[in-house]
Amino acid sequence: MRAWYLAAACLAACAHLLLLLPAAGQEARVSYQGAQLLRLAVLSEEDRRLVEALEGDGDVQIWSGLHQNGSEVDALALPGSAERVKELLESSNVTYSVVIEDLEDAIRSENPVPSEEEMQELEGRKGHRMTWYSYHRMAEVHGYLEYLAQTYPKLCSVQAIGTSGQGRPLKVLKISSGKPNSRAIWVDGGIHAREWISPAVVTYIINELVENYESHSDAVQAVDWYILPIVNPDGYEYTHTTNRLWRKNRRSNADSRCMGVDLNRNFGYKWGGKGSSRDPCTEIYAGQYGFSEPETSAISGFLTPKIGTVKAYVTFHSYGQYFLYPWGYDRVLPPDYKELDRVARKATQAMQAAGSYYTAGSSATTLYPASGGSDDWAKGVAKVKYAYTIELRDKGRYGFILPANYIIPTAKEGLAAIKIIAQEVARLK
Ligand code: ARG
Ligand code: ZN
Repeated sequence: MRAWYLAAACLAACAHLLLLLPAAGQEARVSYQGAQLLRLAVLSEEDRRLVEALEGDGDVQIWSGLHQNGSEVDALALPGSAERVKELLESSNVTYSVVIEDLEDAIRSENPVPSEEEMQELEGRKGHRMTWYSYHRMAEVHGYLEYLAQTYPKLCSVQAIGTSGQGRPLKVLKISSGKPNSRAIWVDGGIHAREWISPAVVTYIINELVENYESHSDAVQAVDWYILPIVNPDGYEYTHTTNRLWRKNRRSNADSRCMGVDLNRNFGYKWGGKGSSRDPCTEIYAGQYGFSEPETSAISGFLTPKIGTVKAYVTFHSYGQYFLYPWGYDRVLPPDYKELDRVARKATQAMQAAGSYYTAGSSATTLYPASGGSDDWAKGVAKVKYAYTIELRDKGRYGFILPANYIIPTAKEGLAAIKIIAQEVARLK
């Protein structure tokens, strides 16, 4: 009797308190309060070893590749370590600047709640809640694809090409003018969970091709489009609910200490080579074998029967403003690299005219070698002529935490690139 009474009293009085606690089985959100984004000048091998040691000890998280060309390295000093890290850098004569004073503040302001204006726009709408004023959850992105398929049944259809490790659908939008086409272009985004600008730009491109068809009818008529805005939905949702800086997918590994595989190291071409790791606790863990993950194997399963028709494979990442072509696994070039480079330059010119400068070049020489990437597999196995990785904005001012008001300007650059690629595919014999 008494226990029942206490429970009832608590239900009333403690309800609001319980709501603040994470539900059973749900992890508490990771806070980045006190974390600082530093830009370091890594000049010597000794400097490099110091930064590597700091990363190994869990004091910093390296955002730009440590083995990237050039001396500037973006490193996030983690909460509780920032002061010590800065002292160590100073005593070792590594110069640095503080780019973001408090990462948690930056996270809080990157994705503002919808404005009055945006709310009104949504009120008047039926069918979907997509905008390019803020970053959206997976359900909104997928709902938007379903809306397009229902609204434009002659132009679009949605297909789940597989299921993520946690059972979320991998939804591809097909855009096709209806006349039989022997050429297709694949576009994807969100393979790395924290790169939020990528799905945002990919959905913007979708919106342009479908809702603004008249302006891009050449691009829509010349090819069939297969577009997967969120390759890694488990990771993407996790960055919204729990850890803003998660990169990999969310499958448990045999080594249960650390979760997730870097999906862009898991493709089955030159798998397990340079720039990937066998250690599940690293951010570049390649998985147990090529295509061990449901997300990557769904893509290969979908595209393999289409070999010969897929002429371009464009995958969006962030950040750094690079336009990259194979190979990524090592500093070597494919036989037709001159053609890849020509189109890359044409595209980056269009991107600059649309807003920003992007550096064109091969992945391994321009950035760093990294094996098991989707672009290399597309080129090497799926025989896709134009395989590109586009690293969107910015160049390190905000890094992964790019405020939502940059979505539209960045998306205009992505669209400009896609239009050039479509033009070149249309011209192929
Ligand atoms: N930032 C991307 C990554 O680290 C670059 C991938 C470029 N492509 C490649 N095959 N390495 O995954
Ligand atoms: Zn990425």
